[in-house]
Amino acid sequence: MSAGYNAIRGYEMLKNEIKVINKKGLHYIIKDGNRLLKFKPWLMDVFSFLYDFIMESSIFPKKFGGDINRHYEILSKELKRIHEKRVLELATGSGSAVNFLPNDNQYTGTDISAGLLRKAVGRFENAGFKNAVFFVTSADDLPFDDNHFNIILCILSLNFFNDIKKVFQEIKRVATPDAVFICSVPVPERNRLQSTIRGTLYSEEELGKICRGNGFKFESIPVDNGALLYFRAVRQ
Ligand SMILES: C[S@@+](CC[C@H](N)C(=O)[O-])C[C@H]1O[C@@H](n2cnc3c(N)ncnc32)[C@H](O)[C@@H]1O
Repeated sequence: MSAGYNAIRGYEMLKNEIKVINKKGLHYIIKDGNRLLKFKPWLMDVFSFLYDFIMESSIFPKKFGGDINRHYEILSKELKRIHEKRVLELATGSGSAVNFLPNDNQYTGTDISAGLLRKAVGRFENAGFKNAVFFVTSADDLPFDDNHFNIILCILSLNFFNDIKKVFQEIKRVATPDAVFICSVPVPERNRLQSTIRGTLYSEEELGKICRGNGFKFESIPVDNGALLYFRAVRQ
């Protein structure tokens, strides 16, 4: 561990063997001596400043036939009672969660894109989150200790993960016994525009099976917003 380990918010939640370094507000995992663990995101880090523009002009809401304000309303309603919890977000991106998560939560953001996470750092600061922490890491291999997070979010990202089985194993591992996983994801049966959506799409039925198979009770949130399914999965 780095010096001052226990004193720094974010480090107390790491697995024992994990070493990290903090560079300009982002935590990078150190592998094999001094190498920083880095990934190849679809949008190269140097183009991260274009992410919100690309997202809003050609992906969401356009491709999904949904409405972005409604998206934030649905998630705000779902999360408005969540206060002072340990919240982990898988695939934070540029920090859209500031639009729906109350700022008195202890937020931990993760993404494979350091460029997007750098944008998120500023947004969370401006939104009044105290001690939000950010890790460059993949959702299928989290550096965190078992049994730590009360709420786990994954918004518009589950379809991008290569190994969803491992991601759910990780969600289960880092979740506290009463944790809730809250997810918004495009599903094929709601894709009425028949858009080409990147990644792997799972139906509501398949997602329900995966959640139940990992010990979560699956509850679809009864809302309509284009191709998106919103669901919560409560740890049993
Ligand atoms: C469409 S964006 C959504 C970001 C954000 N949640 C939002 O709602 O704006 C998908 C995100 O998934 C991230 N991502 C892709 N594969 C990942 C992985 N294996 N682990 C963590 N993040 C990943 C990308 O870097 C990108 O930030």
